[in-house]
Amino acid sequence: MKYEKPVINKVNFSMASKYGSPIKTQKVRNEIDGVSVHELTKKYGSPLFVFSEKKIEEKYHTMENAFKSRYQNVQFSWSYKTNYLNAICKKFHKLGSIAEVVSEFEYQKARSLGIEGKDIIFNGPYKPYKDLKIAAEEKSKIHIDNFFELSDLEKIGSELKRTINVAIRINMFTGIYPQWSRFGFNYENGEAYRAIEKIKESKYLNLIGLHSHIGTFMLDAKPYGIATEKLMDLKFIAESEFGFTIEYIDLGGGFASKSQLKGVYHSPDIIVPTVDDYAEAITNAIYDNNKSEKLPKLYLETGRHLIDEAGYLLTTVNAYKRFPNGFKGYVMDAGVNLLYTSTWYNFTVELDKHYEGDNEPSVLNGPLCMNIDVIEENIQLPALDRGTILTLSPVGAYNNTQSMQFIRYRPATVLIDKNRNVHILKKAEKLENVTNGEELPEYLK
Ligand SMILES: Cc1ncc(COP(=O)(O)O)c(C=O)c1O
Repeated sequence: MKYEKPVINKVNFSMASKYGSPIKTQKVRNEIDGVSVHELTKKYGSPLFVFSEKKIEEKYHTMENAFKSRYQNVQFSWSYKTNYLNAICKKFHKLGSIAEVVSEFEYQKARSLGIEGKDIIFNGPYKPYKDLKIAAEEKSKIHIDNFFELSDLEKIGSELKRTINVAIRINMFTGIYPQWSRFGFNYENGEAYRAIEKIKESKYLNLIGLHSHIGTFMLDAKPYGIATEKLMDLKFIAESEFGFTIEYIDLGGGFASKSQLKGVYHSPDIIVPTVDDYAEAITNAIYDNNKSEKLPKLYLETGRHLIDEAGYLLTTVNAYKRFPNGFKGYVMDAGVNLLYTSTWYNFTVELDKHYEGDNEPSVLNGPLCMNIDVIEENIQLPALDRGTILTLSPVGAYNNTQSMQFIRYRPATVLIDKNRNVHILKKAEKLENVTNGEELPEYLK
């Protein structure tokens, strides 16, 4: 007999059969904060990023209450890289946040929005000398990442002929995997201790702060308690052994948003800790481990948790087809060029109205001529018309800043204020936005 190689076929249990579709639900959204999604795309085009001021305030005030009700001396610092649209940064500054930046570009952006150097936390693993010098001159809060930066600052201090107040960035084991160990000085192997020693030896540096950003989308609050305990331990060492006064500790960002991580079965409503859980873990660990007369100021650099759920992307069905495996494939006008986070998260997909008919397994592809341009690879949807508008959320964190000028222009971004007025935050791009800065050598003209 001829050998036939065994084949395993994936059985798609959610495929519609003669009994119809096992999944009947449809999520419908025809407005955001009372403004129709059809009106929005008619006026500003599709795709369209939409931000809700109401949601931003709601998230901010909830977080502020959670921390301030437990610990008065807390200061929020807006993480620019999470979303550095001018209006979004300004909104957080007006709510009371200072700025947290990780590059000279973000530093300049914060300064251009009127933030003084002293109200800028300068993080990041790469701080070229000239940028470090400006930050030192403007008395910003410099968080040292490595020994090279430390000696650069020592030199800058001697050039400026004055002491520079600095903080160091610490990485540590907090019980989570993978451990973020590439930023700052390690706690367990004594590197953080050596950094404190080095600062003590320096003529021009004075240690005033300790920082740790343990990871992002943290689904457990306990690691924050451990990180705080370790920072408080170092604070005690820096003060008792070296005579520094540590004015503040900074627990970075990382609080999760209500986003659905790929491969995680439970809904975010069940697995994402509340901001009270995070606040409880951090503030309890400060109180429990404080051995100094004065409690430190607490800084937080929360990004994702505050902005993710305030951001939506409207995208329109341009075409559909039936794939050989039976799936319905939709060609949308937004794809991975605008949704960098689609690699890790499944978005909530809402339809602009209720559609008749059974759900069937469908794929949402973007507009790029690239096989990887998939927003949802298996989603139950009824038969949608050409022109259907889908609202994807939450997309407010990291997508806007990491969206690409690849194959297509980037779309407009708008903000709906608390009175339902719509404001343009960024215009849709045109050819000159993409070619700006390009030069055509004379001989090719
Ligand atoms: C140093 C630092 N602070 C704050 C953040 C913001 O993190 P998240 O958006 O998870 O709150 C980041 C992001 O990676 C970061 O690297």
